[in-house]
Formats: sequence, structure tokens, C-alpha cells
Amino acid sequence: MRHSIITRLVMMFAASALIIFSLIGGVLYAVVKNELLRHERDGLVTTFNDIEYMVSRVGTVDRWARVQVKLDTLTPADGKVRFWVFSDDPQFSYGKDLAELHDFDYDPNNIGRLRIKGKEFPMHTLTKVLPAYLDRPAIRLTVGVDTEPYFETLRTFVAAMIGLSLAGVFLVILFGYWIARAGLQPLKKMSNQAQTISPKTLSERLAVSALPDELSDLAQAFNGALDRMENAYKQLEAFNADVAHELRTPLANLIGETQVALSRERSAPEFESVLQSNLEELDRLRSIINDMLFLARCDQGEAATSLVHTVIVDEVQKTIEFFEFVLDEMQMSVEVTGDTEASSLIETALFRRALTNLLQNAIQHSPTGARITISIDAKNKDVQVAVSNPGEPIESRHLPRLFDRFYRVDTARRDFNGVHGHGLGLAIVKAVALMHGGTAFATSRGGMTTIGFTVGGKIA
Ligand SMILES: Nc1ncnc2c1ncn2[C@@H]1O[C@H](COP(=O)(O)OP(=O)(O)OP(=O)(O)O)[C@@H](O)[C@H]1O
Ligand SMILES: [Mg+2]
Repeated sequence: MRHSIITRLVMMFAASALIIFSLIGGVLYAVVKNELLRHERDGLVTTFNDIEYMVSRVGTVDRWARVQVKLDTLTPADGKVRFWVFSDDPQFSYGKDLAELHDFDYDPNNIGRLRIKGKEFPMHTLTKVLPAYLDRPAIRLTVGVDTEPYFETLRTFVAAMIGLSLAGVFLVILFGYWIARAGLQPLKKMSNQAQTISPKTLSERLAVSALPDELSDLAQAFNGALDRMENAYKQLEAFNADVAHELRTPLANLIGETQVALSRERSAPEFESVLQSNLEELDRLRSIINDMLFLARCDQGEAATSLVHTVIVDEVQKTIEFFEFVLDEMQMSVEVTGDTEASSLIETALFRRALTNLLQNAIQHSPTGARITISIDAKNKDVQVAVSNPGEPIESRHLPRLFDRFYRVDTARRDFNGVHGHGLGLAIVKAVALMHGGTAFATSRGGMTTIGFTVGGKIA
């Protein structure tokens, strides 16, 4: 069952209060009971001593009659204190219900309990045998005091104690509720604040300094999550804008060309050429969308599957083969250097895709006749593949952003086919690296630009 924190706290307060009151009540009960009993005993002993003193010096029947009168006057009307004298000689006996009371128990301290018919509470008694004196035989003197006041006091005490405890628990619940509410106020404030945060106010943060220590950690964590959300949100917004922008140009071209083609009568070869050109444009659109889908899958945390233990240099060579004609045309050459033994667990299709993007870029940004280098380095468990080409240096402020989607250094420049790249090539290189547990990097100095990536999980 789910309880609110306030309910929990109040229940715990109430339980603690109940335990504390019960303990205090128990101890007080024991103390009070003991005190009352001691007080009663003291009274009993004092009365007994007085009577004993009076009775022990009486040895004749004459004087005994006066003792009886004296005892009568000493016996209170309500019967709270009573005296009995047992004797073999009936002349020296005293007290009501003597026959019935003949046998009753008393302990070695002469203290006993006596139940008298029709009375709810027993009497506490003190009994002693007084030796014979003159004409009088040995007698047994018993003084009894009624325990009713004692039990009544105890009963009243217990009732008061229970009443007080219940009232106490009730008060604790009331105060506990109030305290818990007041104590949790900052939490409520925080949640109110958090509720106002929406995509429109994503830059708002919880005021950590105004919160108590216990909550500031939580608020900080929450603010951290908001930071990351805000970044992701901004990236997403920028990405959406970029996507729209990138798709708009090819679509506008398609529409324009088609409208022109339809504006007057055309021969079949003319239509064919328009369709051909449209097809190229559509192809570009498809490749942008494919690239974006690939990046989206990587964003969702898709890792490389079907990993194969591969000698890296082999894959590099196979990739270069696809560029033979372009390289010839540009009178460029590619040299592979470094660790030709290096091998790693890779998904070959992804690896080639990344390397292809790097080679395309290198070719695109090198002067005619340039020499491109692909270096392979085995570092610890990673294998690093880097493509270097001579060419105009990239300003260092661009370097960290090269791998962002749709990021291009010089948007005005066109590649050797006369069309813009869409700025997804390096984003894909980075995605492939991440899918292999690696990273991507770029440097540009001394007229050489080097861009590369690592793949992890090399098996020694
Ligand atoms: N070897 C390089 N030398 C100089 N600049 C480079 C090099 N490689 C990449 N760049 C710069 O980095 C930018 C991003 O490269 P990326 O490959 O991501 O996009 P693109 O080549 O413009 O388009 P795409 O590869 O998607 O067709 C490029 O626009 C270019 O300005
Ligand atoms: Mg590129």
C-alpha cells in the first residue's frame, strides 16, 4: 500500500509516542503501587503497635472488658480498620466474625490477606501472638486495614494514565501532522517549481540554494537532467531546421525542373533528360534520408552487430579499390602506412562506409595530384584509422564541430561534382566509431588535414 510521507511520519510519531507513554506509564504504575503499599503497611504497623502496647499489659477479665470498649471506640464506623483477638479463653476474645476468621494465612513477616464476605477488596492484616500475662492466656492479635482506598487509588491512577496517554498520542498525531507538513514544505515548493517547467521554459532551473541540504542533491540531479534535455531539445530543433533546409533545395529543384518541362510541348528525348536529372535529384534525397535514418538508429543506441574479426588493412584496400577511377581522374594516389597486422572486431560494411566518407572528403579537399595517406595504428585495444590529405587548413574553431550533423565549414564551396555535400559524412563516421566503442577525431596543421576514427575491441 502506498502512503504519503506525511501519513508515514505521523504513524511513526504516534507509534513512538505510544511506546514512550506505555513505558513511562508502566514504570509510574510500579512506583505508585509500591509507595501506596508501603504507606499502607506503615499505617498498619503503627496501629498494630499502639494496640499491642495497650493489650499486652492487660491480664485480668476486668481490665479486658475495658480494653474491649476501647477497641470498640477505636474501630471506625465504616469498618476500614478492624481488630481481632483470638484466644482459647473466650473471655479474652474480641472481634466480629471470629469463627469464620479463625484460620487464615499470614507470611513470616506476619502480614496476611483476609477476605471478608460481601467486601470486594481483601483486608491487609498484621498478626502476632502475644504471650500469656497474669490470668490471660496467650492471645493472637490481628489488625486489619481495608485495601479498598489503595485499590481505588491505583485504579484511578491507571485510568488517568491511560486517558493522558491517549490524549498525548492524539496531540502527537496533531503536532506530527503539522510538523511533517511544515517539514515537507520545501518538497512541495520544489515540485510546484518543477511543474512549471515545459519545453517553452526549458532554460529554467530549480533554485538549489533555497533548498535544504537533503533536497539540494535531488534538485541538482534534476537540474542536470534538465541541462541534458535542453541540449538534446536544442539539437533536435536545430536538426529539424537543418533537415527542412536540406530537403527544401532538392525538392525546389525537382519542382522547378518539372514545371519547366511541362510548360510547353517536349519531345520524348527532352522528357527523358528531365526525368534523368530528376532521378539524380531524387537519388540525392534518398541518400540524405538514408543517412539520417542511419544516424537516428545510432542515436537510439544501436550498436554494431555481426562483428567479424578482420585485418584492417584488407578492408582499407578493398575500400580504396572503389576510388580507383576518381583517383586516376584527379591524378591522386593513396598510400597506406602503419600497422598492417592490426586487426579488430568490426562490422565491415559500417567500417567501409566510414572510410569511404573520409576518402571522399580527402579527395574533395585536396589539390589535383595530391597524395593521400591512410594510416593504421594499433593502440592498446583500439585500432585507429586516419586519412590525411594536403589542402587548405581547417580553422581550429571548426574542428570540434566537423562531426555535427549538417555542419559544413564552407557552405559556399561545391565539391568536384559541382554540388554541395550535405554535411552528414563525418557525422556518420562518428556514429560508426561509437557503434564500435570508439571515437572520431580531426586535426589540421602544416597544410595537412587528418581526420580519423577508432574501433575498439581488438583481439590481441
Ligand atoms: N579532408 C578535409 N579537408 C578539409 N575540410 C574537410 C575535410 N573533410 C571534411 N571537411 C570539412 O568538414 C565538413 C563536414 O564534412 P562532411 O563529410 O561531414 O560533410 P560534406 O563532405 O560537406 O557532405 P557529405 O559528406 O555529407 O556529402 C565539410 O563540409 C568540410 O568543410
Ligand atoms: Mg563528406
